[in-house]
Amino acid sequence: MIIDWYPGHMKKARAQIVEMLPTIDLFIEVLDARLPSSSANPLLEKLRGDKPCIKVLNKSDLADPTITKAWVTHFDRQQGVRAMPMDATDRRNVGLLPKLCRKLVPHRGSKGQKPLRVMIIGIPNVGKSTLINTLAGKKIARVGDKPAITTCPQQIDLRNGILLADTPGLLWPVLDDEIGACRLAASGAIGENAYDTTSVSLETADYLRQRYPALLQKRYNLKEIPETPIAIVEEIGRRRGCLVSGGEVDLHRAAELLLRELRGGKVGRISLERPSDISQPGKEAANEE
Ligand code: G4P
Repeated sequence: MIIDWYPGHMKKARAQIVEMLPTIDLFIEVLDARLPSSSANPLLEKLRGDKPCIKVLNKSDLADPTITKAWVTHFDRQQGVRAMPMDATDRRNVGLLPKLCRKLVPHRGSKGQKPLRVMIIGIPNVGKSTLINTLAGKKIARVGDKPAITTCPQQIDLRNGILLADTPGLLWPVLDDEIGACRLAASGAIGENAYDTTSVSLETADYLRQRYPALLQKRYNLKEIPETPIAIVEEIGRRRGCLVSGGEVDLHRAAELLLRELRGGKVGRISLERPSDISQPGKEAANEE
């Protein structure tokens, strides 16, 4: 259902991480709090060795707070890992990050010490640029913004003892797990041309029916939730005027509307996966590449 248009990137990513590894003290992996497993790329866990890692659960303002808490507990159990819910647009929230970096690498980054060298990584669209801009307190022109200019990693001096190595586009989502790919598509992490909007929307409607029925009912003023995903999306279309001539529902438009409202947080704070959902057959395969 979802076209993988990132083939061949994994090898390059691996080479870049391996090359930079000796000059990095700490990794910040930016994940989407709504889907922390599917928005991760397992390459980092494979390569980082014993270097500490902060998993930033970004866009937590859109995610279900109870599930985000469960993810933090889940990640904090891992060796050398600390997780932190984040809204990268919130300066106060982002301001907590340098403190945690220094805590994890106490011999660097403070007055009189050598700088603490941090690599920020994550798949596209998880909010890396937003996080870097908020950390730096200004808009940083990232090397990946214009692919034609350069693909070299750049260093950003935060002037607080921390140096950021920004490697845009280093990691790509793993799309060979259908369920994970569908969650990525629902979250907006995948370009619209790579998947079938109606199919992803129907899957999402089914998920919402099971996990967030009250939010679905409230947003679309549904007395009862129809039993099938197609009936749910059709009902949403009817209520929102997504009709074709003759009064039939325009299913594609209704499907788009549901995904758009979900991504914008209009349906409510929704997590698309929880720690107990994880099964990563695709990610294992990617590891072996
Ligand atoms: P990237 O560098 O990892 O590719 O991601 P980027 O910072 O460009 O962020 C992708 C989109 O996610 C942007 O929205 C950005 O505003 C939004 N975003 C980033 N962090 C957060 C967060 O913590 N919460 C929420 N709700 N949104 C976040 P956009 O619509 O693509 O761009 P813009 O119109 O906001 O600039």
